[in-house]
Amino acid sequence: MTGWNRFLGFLEWSDADAGVLAVLDWAALAGPYTDAFYARIRAVPELDHLVREHSSYERLAAAMQEYVRRLADPPVGEAYLERMRAVARVHGRVGLSPDWYLGAYRLLWEYALQAAWGRREAGLPAALAKRLTADLVLTISAYQELMEERNRELETARSLLSGAEQQLTAEAAELAAAATQARAAGGRMAQLLAAVAEEGRTVREQAQGAVTQADAGSRAMTVLGGQVAETRKTLEEVAAAEAAAALEAVRAALDQAVAAFTAVAGRLEESGRSIHELDAATGRLESQAGRVAALARQLTAPAGAGKEAMP
Ligand code: HEM
Repeated sequence: MTGWNRFLGFLEWSDADAGVLAVLDWAALAGPYTDAFYARIRAVPELDHLVREHSSYERLAAAMQEYVRRLADPPVGEAYLERMRAVARVHGRVGLSPDWYLGAYRLLWEYALQAAWGRREAGLPAALAKRLTADLVLTISAYQELMEERNRELETARSLLSGAEQQLTAEAAELAAAATQARAAGGRMAQLLAAVAEEGRTVREQAQGAVTQADAGSRAMTVLGGQVAETRKTLEEVAAAEAAAALEAVRAALDQAVAAFTAVAGRLEESGRSIHELDAATGRLESQAGRVAALARQLTAPAGAGKEAMP
């Protein structure tokens, strides 16, 4: 509002008004005013509820009596202004709307008029009107400032909410996009896992095949090893048999040679055979001896050496 002193000028408040108001005994009036005032408040359920919810009639009675006593003071100075703002703040805090306040103020106004009734001081009704109006205007102005402050707070809260809502919407969109991506990634992962599982199956099958083949190979090697051993044994046996046969042949050749020699010797002895027959027998004997020597060489030759043909 415009400056308070300027407004007091508009109300035509003067020191004379303060003097006129002082003729009333405000302290004496405070008790009866307060009792009458709260009797009316108690009769209105929502006002009675408001008092009981936020305060008590005892506390209110003390506050109201102090208020009435101070109506004797002129409505000037910072302390007065601050007191009126505090009254408005308290009522705003407890949720008493200006219409109830103004309606209740009618009671105080009426009591003040009754007190002035029949008094001789000519300026008393006007001074009372100025004084009570000053309080009313200040309280209502403070109410208005309070409401403007609340509106600003509401506006701030609304813009904060709107910002938060926009942010939430943006975050929700981001989350939705992330969820879509995650779903797609999950699908790809599932495909990958299926491929890996398939690959694993193939590898397992191949491994099983390799194991089977290795088993077969191992068995084949064992068989082969057996066969080799057997072959070696057979070869040894063959070699032994060949050696035995060769010895047998040597023995037979020797027997043959001995028999031939014996026969020749017998014939020489018995019939005096000629030297020529003896030579021939000797030649055959030499030839037999050569075959025996060749056989003996073959038998004593190291393994793998080429066998010479029997003479
Ligand atoms: C004629 C108008 C009224 C005047 C002049 C008046 C005056 C006051 C004053 C001076 C206070 C103390 C303020 C402070 O602590 O700084 C107060 C507080 C209070 N008033 Fe009023 N009042 C009025 C109307 C009402 C009405 C109609 C109600 C309705 C129920 C009400 C309920 C209260 C409550 C609940 C408190 C708070 C008390 C506390 O904090 O314990 N007032 N009032």
